[in-house]
Amino acid sequence: MRTNTGQTIHLEDYRPTDFVLERVDLTFELDPKETKVEARLIFHRREGVSPAAPLVLDGDELRMTGLLLDQVEIPPTHFDATDDTLTIRGLPETAPFEITITTLLSPETNTKLMGLYRTNNVYCTQCEAEGFRRITYFPDRPDVLAVYTVNIIADKATTPLLLSNGNHLGGADMGDGRHFAAWFDPHPKPSYLFALVAGDLGVVEDTFTTASGRTVALRIYVEHGKEAGASYAMDALKRSMKWDEEVFGREYDLDIFMIVAVSDFNMGAMENKGLNVFNDKYVLADPETATDADYANIEAIIAHEYFHNWTGNRITCRDWFQLCLKEGLTVFRDHEFSADMRSRAVKRIAEVRHLKSEQFPEDAGPLAHPVRPTKYREINNFYTTTVYEKGSEVTRMIATILGRDLFKKGMDLYFDRHDGQAVTIEDFVACFEDASGRNLKQFSLWYHQAGTPLVTASGSYDADKQTFSLSLEQTVPPTPGQSTKEPMHIPLRLGLLLEDGSEAKAASVSGADITEDVIHLTKRKQTVLFSGIPSRPVPSLNRGFSAPINLHIEQSPGDRALIARHEIDLFARWQALNAIALDNLVAATTQARNGQPVVCDNALVAGLIAAAADDRLEPAFRSQALTLPSESDIAREIGSDNDPDAIHTGRQQILAGVAAAGRDTFNRLMDDMAAPGPFSPDATSAGRRALRNSALSFLVYGDKGPERAAEAFRAANNMTDLSIALTLLAHRFPDAKETAEALAHFKQRFADNALVIDKWFAIQATVPGPRTLDRVKTLMSDPLFNGNNPNRVRSLVGTFAFSNPTGFNRADGEGYRFLARQILDIDPRNPQLAARILTSMRSWRSLEKVRSDHARNALAEIAGAANLSADVSDIVDRMLE
Ligand code: PHE
Ligand code: ZN
Repeated sequence: MRTNTGQTIHLEDYRPTDFVLERVDLTFELDPKETKVEARLIFHRREGVSPAAPLVLDGDELRMTGLLLDQVEIPPTHFDATDDTLTIRGLPETAPFEITITTLLSPETNTKLMGLYRTNNVYCTQCEAEGFRRITYFPDRPDVLAVYTVNIIADKATTPLLLSNGNHLGGADMGDGRHFAAWFDPHPKPSYLFALVAGDLGVVEDTFTTASGRTVALRIYVEHGKEAGASYAMDALKRSMKWDEEVFGREYDLDIFMIVAVSDFNMGAMENKGLNVFNDKYVLADPETATDADYANIEAIIAHEYFHNWTGNRITCRDWFQLCLKEGLTVFRDHEFSADMRSRAVKRIAEVRHLKSEQFPEDAGPLAHPVRPTKYREINNFYTTTVYEKGSEVTRMIATILGRDLFKKGMDLYFDRHDGQAVTIEDFVACFEDASGRNLKQFSLWYHQAGTPLVTASGSYDADKQTFSLSLEQTVPPTPGQSTKEPMHIPLRLGLLLEDGSEAKAASVSGADITEDVIHLTKRKQTVLFSGIPSRPVPSLNRGFSAPINLHIEQSPGDRALIARHEIDLFARWQALNAIALDNLVAATTQARNGQPVVCDNALVAGLIAAAADDRLEPAFRSQALTLPSESDIAREIGSDNDPDAIHTGRQQILAGVAAAGRDTFNRLMDDMAAPGPFSPDATSAGRRALRNSALSFLVYGDKGPERAAEAFRAANNMTDLSIALTLLAHRFPDAKETAEALAHFKQRFADNALVIDKWFAIQATVPGPRTLDRVKTLMSDPLFNGNNPNRVRSLVGTFAFSNPTGFNRADGEGYRFLARQILDIDPRNPQLAARILTSMRSWRSLEKVRSDHARNALAEIAGAANLSADVSDIVDRMLE
């Protein structure tokens, strides 16, 4: 029994609207139960469109109480209103006309958090991708750009603040206990960028002077009493505005820029024109409650949303297939921003870890899709790590192929040529072709072919001829709907290291185009010959992760260790260490599964400890070097027939081996990296904390009892140290009384701060082992849990499913059955949230048989349920296909 399975939308069916929307005038009379919206829309028929063509508008769960054409009621014979469309016939042939639509909304009962809803007594909208149609009937698609005027009327006492996009025109008391405000946004925009916020909030104010000398008012709105927590976000905003002027030449274009933090939000944040709405998790921070990772996320997301003002808002998407046009590009921009604010190498390592742990599994499983998809059933399900993170990597490759200057020239051309338009990926790529004279046709396959390419490399050295030959072969694995693939243009940065660690300079290179240290792989098989190489070199491939590929190269731990010690590219050093670790962890898994003793590789131990102890390297990098691949990284490397318990056991043994061998180093680091002064969230101090906590983690792994971890918990004076100490206690000593005490203490101390309690949920949801499921169930009835709040659900249920491989993948299948029940419970309230959490099962086919059978059954149970949302049925159907 299925409803709402949704229609499949195809890219090739795109055509422009029959009617052009000229202007939008909206009046909201806000009320929690019954908000009245009057929308006045001025249209004209597009040239060449048949005079008989009706106007078809989108809608979703709307109650319409009035419909006028040029202020005259439209007779029922001239329109049809269904659940999702309003069709109006008999409209003027050429003259512009005005349609006035009145709808009634109930923000209070809107649990989907799309359209107009209430969160903590604040009215708030979310319109991307298709939420505006839940406010009024509208041509709700990104290629319909119009200028908006918005009037907001509300009770003055409970709703003193009335905000919308653009500039504030004015407002007044209405004398009846209500007041109003009017806003005008001069920049034509698609409906998905509309926003309205109204309520009673505190504010932090500042200003920014643009490069051309205009003063922009900056405001961040938060719950009363939380204003101090917004100062880091404000600082990040000002740095973002300056950076976009300096690096991309982009100035802000309104008199005011506002950010509002809300506590119920399906995603991270939203770039509405001039009025960004944020999940409060990505705004509020102080040392007592925010970790270093929280600070870094806030900086990145504030920047991301701000950068959308040009990449997304001024130039938007023609249709939702082009989502990566704004998201991939904007992620690339926020990555570059963070790299400039912090350590570039460390940032790149973090990006690649994230890409590999999130996007690679998506690309290797049933939900794989191209960066620019050609069909979808539910667009909400395409806000994926493929569109965002792989989309960013594709942009980065354009920059690598063209080089800095031509990339900049292409971006400038893009802004010049397409400002004010809704465009496609083809338009974007054409700007780089035109700016550089290069042909990017083959390169564009990155947008169209799903799947992570595999490059297999092998080298051979000819001492007599002093040549080194590197054979490279690329394959792109089949993905749903794409069984065969064309070879791609893969820009591979590389270096050849000689025995003493210096880099060989080849006298000549043949067999591939090469620019600086980039070889351009364009054929299925290619052999590149380097001449004038004095001794056997060790190739260091994919420096900086220049291409988002899997790379297989037979390389001894000794050769890898040479790279780890000597590469000038710090990222490549980390990559080499990581490869040694991964090989060892895969072997350890097999040993654990076969009941053999786990052998810890000496090259690994020596490499890790040498990196950790190397005071010439920045602490943040050394901490990354010490962070072993995760259990899911190991599962992905193994690829099939996975046993999460064996992976866990093997990895624990390796951790113990490193812990034992490195004890002296780790003890020294505990002292060396102690904070020299008061807490500061800056990147250098965060790096020291990271290294100290990496050392602490290894020491605790070597401990028999919880004393050291308990002491770290007591000594912590910031949330980074505190949450890590609590994690170590809970994960390493789950049954110790010190752990129970610390958990209770933490809960009591932060009971009134939901965002910190989310950490408390997440730490407990990730305790390894089969017993955690019961703990998660118990926590769901804790008074601090709230099944209607997306952050709470994600931190407990989501974290358990996504980040607890041994707990979630219990061999008896109870984890999957639990998740299935949760999905069916959440779906009717909030389908987007349900669908998102369900993607935690995307790698189910790579599990060993007993588990994958259980997983399939749980998915089938979801698929067979009545009244599934389009969101969940789309995901579950693709996962079972
Ligand atoms: N466009 C938002 C961003 O990436 C994400 C988002 C999508 C938010 C859909 C809400 C709904 O910045
Ligand atoms: Zn975005």
